[in-house]
Amino acid sequence: MDKIAVVGAGNVGATAAQRLAEKELARQVVLIDVVEGIPQGKGLDEWEAAPIEGFDSRIIGTNGYEEAAGAGIFIVTAGIARKPGMSRDDLLNTNASIVRSVSENIARVAPDSIIIMVSNPLDVMCWVAREASGFPKERVIGMAGVLDTARYRSFLALELDVSVEDIQAMVLGGHGDTMVPLISYTTISGIPVTQLIPQDRLDAIVDRTRKGGGEIVAYLKTGSAYYAPSAAAVQMAEAIVKDKKRILPCAAWLEGEYGLSGLFLGVPVKIGRNGIEQILEVELTNAEREALEKSAEAVREPMRVIGG
Ligand code: NAI
Ligand code: 2OP
Repeated sequence: MDKIAVVGAGNVGATAAQRLAEKELARQVVLIDVVEGIPQGKGLDEWEAAPIEGFDSRIIGTNGYEEAAGAGIFIVTAGIARKPGMSRDDLLNTNASIVRSVSENIARVAPDSIIIMVSNPLDVMCWVAREASGFPKERVIGMAGVLDTARYRSFLALELDVSVEDIQAMVLGGHGDTMVPLISYTTISGIPVTQLIPQDRLDAIVDRTRKGGGEIVAYLKTGSAYYAPSAAAVQMAEAIVKDKKRILPCAAWLEGEYGLSGLFLGVPVKIGRNGIEQILEVELTNAEREALEKSAEAVREPMRVIGG
C-alpha cells in the first residue's frame, strides 16, 4: 500500500506507526496529531530507527491531513482520557466531537479509505465515524475483539503452559465488561478448552479477560494499555493490505445479524482488501446469545446520550 495514516500520536498511535513501518505495510506511514511537535518528533525518532531495524517505510509526522491524502487506511486513536471531575458522558461528548472532526477530515482527503477505529468508547466511536464520514459499513471497522481475544488467548497459554499460537478463540460483543468470550469456540489445536481446564479456572480467566483493560490501567495509573492494542490494530491493517481474508472478531455495523440492528458490535468478520467482506453468523448457546444482547444494550445506552 502507498500510505497508511494513524490519527493520534499518543501511546497507541505512535506504537502503531512504529509497528506498521517495521512490517513495511506501506511505503509511507503518516502520523497525525493536534499537538504541535509531537507527531513530528515521534515520527522522526521512529524513522531514525529504520537503518537499525532495516525498514524503508517513511514515517512522517504532521498536524494536518494533506500529507495523508489518498491513504488507504486510517487507524484512529485520537481522543482524551477521563480527567478528574469529568463524567463518563463528558468524556463521551468530547471524544465524539474529536472523532467526528477526524472522520470528516478523513472523508475529505481520502474518500475511498478504510477506517480502523480504536478510540473509546469503541463501539460508539465507530458509529460516530460512520455518520461523520458517510463511509459504507464495509469501510468502518472497530478494533476491540482482536485485543480482547489476544488477552484471553495469552491467559489461556499461561494457564496451560502451551504456545499462544495453538490457542484458537474469539471474544465478541462490545468493548467493555459485557464482552462475550466464546468458551464453546475455544480450542487448543482443536481440543475443546473444557477438556483441558476445569470450569472454575476457566471462569476466572474469562473474568480476567473482561477486566483486562482495567488491569493494565491499575498498574500504569496514568494511562491505559498500548502495546497489545497497537498490535491488534496493525494486525487488522495487515489483513487489509495483504488481502488475507482473515477471520477476526471486530466491531461491525449490524443489520439484523445475530438479531441485532443499528449499532456496531464485535462479531466475527472476514477482513480483506475491501474492509469487512463478510460477517459470519455462528451458532451461539442460549447463554452466549443472552450475553451478546446484554452487551448490545450496554453499547446502545451511550449511543443514545450522543443522539444515536
Ligand atoms: P493518548 O492520550 O496517549 O493519545 C491520544 C492522542 O490523541 C493524544 O496525543 C492527543 O493529542 C491526540 N488527539 C486529541 N485530539 C485529537 C484530534 N482532534 N486530532 C488528532 N489527535 C488528537 O491515548 P492512547 O493511550 O494512545 O489511547 C488512544 C485512544 O484509544 C483512547 O481513547 C483509548 O481509550 C483508546 N484505546 C482503545 C482500545 C481498544 O481496544 N479499542 C485499546 C487501547 C486504547
Ligand atoms: C483497553 O482495553 C483501554 O480499551 C482499552 O486496554
